Amino acid sequence: MHHNISDILLLYICFTKANQMWFHSAHHVTKGKGFAGDHELLYGKIYKSLTEHLDEIIERAIGHTDSEIYACPIVISQMTVKVLKNFCSPADKSDIKISEIAYDSLQDLLNNTESLHQKLKMSGHLSIGFEDLLAGFANQYEAYIYMLKQRLK
Ligand SMILES: [Fe+2]
Repeated sequence: MHHNISDILLLYICFTKANQMWFHSAHHVTKGKGFAGDHELLYGKIYKSLTEHLDEIIERAIGHTDSEIYACPIVISQMTVKVLKNFCSPADKSDIKISEIAYDSLQDLLNNTESLHQKLKMSGHLSIGFEDLLAGFANQYEAYIYMLKQRLK
């Protein structure tokens, strides 16, 4: 696999990891009247999906490239910190502020998923299975974006 594509894949994995950490935290610190629903059925569901997606994309990346760098905890955590620095923390924020950041973050993740799909396709690295995996992620993120949009009304 082309060097550039490996870097793009690694960055995408760290972007997913950053979102997984952010949404797990949102699950912990959400508050107010909507607490029960937000905690369990919104941020709870989202962080669990992201944990699952992370597992799947890392395994697929190793399978496609024969490189294990995608699963190195030191590489992943260091890169994820850099990504997280561009996020606004959910800690000590109101429920509305948390859902606003959540909406923007998932929209970014969806855009990144579409962009990864495009780059893999253009470089001839997109198998049918990989395409299906990414389409499944995008499908799930669109469903969560709908939920967050309704939450913000
Ligand atoms: Fe929990």
